[in-house]
Amino acid sequence: MRMIVTGGAGFIGSHIVDAYLALGHEVLVLDSLWEHGGGRRANVPQGVSFVHMDVRDAGIERIFREFKPDVVSHHAAQHSVAISSRDPHFDADVNVLGLINVLDCAVKASVRKVIFASSAATFGEIERLPIDESTPQRPTSPYGITKMVAEHYLRFFKNEKGLDFTALRYGNVFGPRQDPNGEAGVISIFIAKFLQKQGVRIDWDGEQTRDYVYVKDVAAANVAALERGSGSFYCIGTGVKTSVNQLYKALVKISGFEPPITHGERRSGDARAVQYNIALAAKELQWKPQTSLVDGMQATYDYFAAQQPKEAVS
Ligand SMILES: NC(=O)c1ccc[n+]([C@@H]2O[C@H](COP(=O)([O-])OP(=O)(O)OC[C@H]3O[C@@H](n4cnc5c(N)ncnc54)[C@H](O)[C@@H]3O)[C@@H](O)[C@H]2O)c1
Repeated sequence: MRMIVTGGAGFIGSHIVDAYLALGHEVLVLDSLWEHGGGRRANVPQGVSFVHMDVRDAGIERIFREFKPDVVSHHAAQHSVAISSRDPHFDADVNVLGLINVLDCAVKASVRKVIFASSAATFGEIERLPIDESTPQRPTSPYGITKMVAEHYLRFFKNEKGLDFTALRYGNVFGPRQDPNGEAGVISIFIAKFLQKQGVRIDWDGEQTRDYVYVKDVAAANVAALERGSGSFYCIGTGVKTSVNQLYKALVKISGFEPPITHGERRSGDARAVQYNIALAAKELQWKPQTSLVDGMQATYDYFAAQQPKEAVS
């Protein structure tokens, strides 16, 4: 098949590109290499066409028309909760108007399906764990709002224009290539500090939990969604909740280093606990995560250690 991966130079998108290539699909990456995102030109493998363009650009219509993709994986986004709170206009511009541009062009180019990167942020305040697809969505940030609104547009484009979709609501994705300077990737942020032999900051009391899912398992969900999950929304996580303190202890074991901890305030809007029920994805996408948290953290640690300048690794 022929695929366009928007945001394919980024952390998750580039692993999806790898997974599609490994199956023999032809892939084009469309990415603006946004300055606050995790996108890197170097993440796009040889043999993959790369178009440096914003998803809001009218020019993407020509790219879609000429490449004629069967499937579009839409992973380009303004992905920062903090930026969305500071600048909701920009957030909506990229995450809603950019999405509509992609969907319009997909319809014109007779694309069969769009796979969309949605988020646990669409749930916002959570009253009961675990979260599943029937949990009410009450987003508390502009980012969560635009991701939820995007899901409604997907439904509209399917119902009115016949464009199929699958939306994957990711938990906290981690793994190689995650931007350690970003706000969400606590595992990569910690690993960078461990490797630089620096102290780490743990906000709140560190007992807040999240559902951490390894990026290659997320890429596998994007493979499963090529043929399954028509017109549906899925929680993509592990079903396991892990605290920040547990992550810290696991990294002490992996690295043999015990960095000093300073404690920060609870970040505004931070949820106490997040845990997914992934039964629907297991049943309908026939997908289950294959990587344990510890194995995924070890692989991520090894990746970042290999990136370090030689003299910095002791
Ligand atoms: N990382 C997570 O835990 C997580 C969780 C839930 C959902 N998501 C979603 O998954 C997707 C990928 O996130 P990521 O963590 O890989 O982030 P990332 O920043 O590494 O990747 C996003 C990519 O999109 C590109 N991009 C941003 N704005 C663009 C624009 N206007 N036009 C074209 N390209 C643009 C960036 O350059 C980057 O390469 C996003 O949609 C994000 O909202 C991520």
